[in-house]
Amino acid sequence: MTYFSKLIGTGSAFPEKIMTNAEFEAFVETSDEWIRTRTGIQTRRIANLQKGESTSTIAIAASRKALEMAGISADKLDLIVVGTVTADSVMPTTGNLVQAALGATRAFSFDLQAACSGFLYGLSIADQFIRTGAVETALVIGAETLSTLVNWQDRGTCVLFGDAAGAAIITRTTDPKHSILGTRLYSDGTKGDILKIPHGGSKIPHYLPEYQHKNHTIHMQGQEVFKLAVRSMIDSSLALLSEHDLTPSDVDFFLFHQANVRILEMCMKSLGVPREKTWINLDKYGNTSAATLPVCLDEAMRQGAIETGNKVLLTTFGGGVTWASGLIQI
Ligand code: COA
Repeated sequence: MTYFSKLIGTGSAFPEKIMTNAEFEAFVETSDEWIRTRTGIQTRRIANLQKGESTSTIAIAASRKALEMAGISADKLDLIVVGTVTADSVMPTTGNLVQAALGATRAFSFDLQAACSGFLYGLSIADQFIRTGAVETALVIGAETLSTLVNWQDRGTCVLFGDAAGAAIITRTTDPKHSILGTRLYSDGTKGDILKIPHGGSKIPHYLPEYQHKNHTIHMQGQEVFKLAVRSMIDSSLALLSEHDLTPSDVDFFLFHQANVRILEMCMKSLGVPREKTWINLDKYGNTSAATLPVCLDEAMRQGAIETGNKVLLTTFGGGVTWASGLIQI
């Protein structure tokens, strides 16, 4: 028997606090006008740690909504994968925190770090487990509280990011027409310096004299990332489509990683994607890293922009650097 993975539920969740562009003007030299015109971002959500909001709390909330849409209980889950670079803790993993909160007693769970590519990496891994028959149903989450990794004195990065979680549930099917058609994952560690968090890992932990808190934040060469993100998302999308003998005109809907509206526009122009065939929400949420794609997927599904039978292409680029594309027929 040949197995495939079918998408049966999605969900998303956010911290309560909405932070506007104007709020940054109080502590860095910037303006609402600069942020809007150079990035397309207007607001973002910021977790309130004092109120108990964290990566796991929004991941759990998003997962509950995905379970509800799928119409299954948590004890049907065999696998939970969380793409995140902002896990609540190293141990237990955020996957285990989600598993415990949902009561997903049968599931094994883990976190994976692929920066903004975390959701598509997770979806691809879960899809492989389902295709081999080892797993029947998987919950894949992209969840981040990047506000905890931002240098609030660096105007070049602090205005870009936000906090969010998105979740998707996939399950075994024998029908290849409504399934994940394929995924392609890529990494290039030689370019790791263009988007990195230098301190705070095991090489320079917080107790060494070299440790500096400002280096335990996102360091980015914006223009280099911009150029590579555009090229990588276009090339990996075309490579995946050509593997399936498809061209962009065969795709019903495109979901791009939400980093900068100018990046989206360049990808759309190059691939010939009209505005009505894509979802843009970075004006509301900013760049939420691994959460951008599952949140877009959830919003587009719930608002009827994506329908049964549609071919949906997802593509992303992330720090370190990583990138990926995925093709799903709903
Ligand atoms: N407000 C006002 N000015 C700002 C600013 C801000 N928030 N951030 C940067 N600037 C300034 C710079 O200091 C620079 O000033 P200078 O000319 O006096 O040196 C000027 O704006 C231009 O900076 P530059 O970096 O060339 O701007 P840009 O047009 O490339 O936009 C980014 C910067 C970060 C918005 C853009 O490069 C980008 O989006 N990069 C990709 C980000 C990304 O995708 N990251 C995540 C990938 S997963």
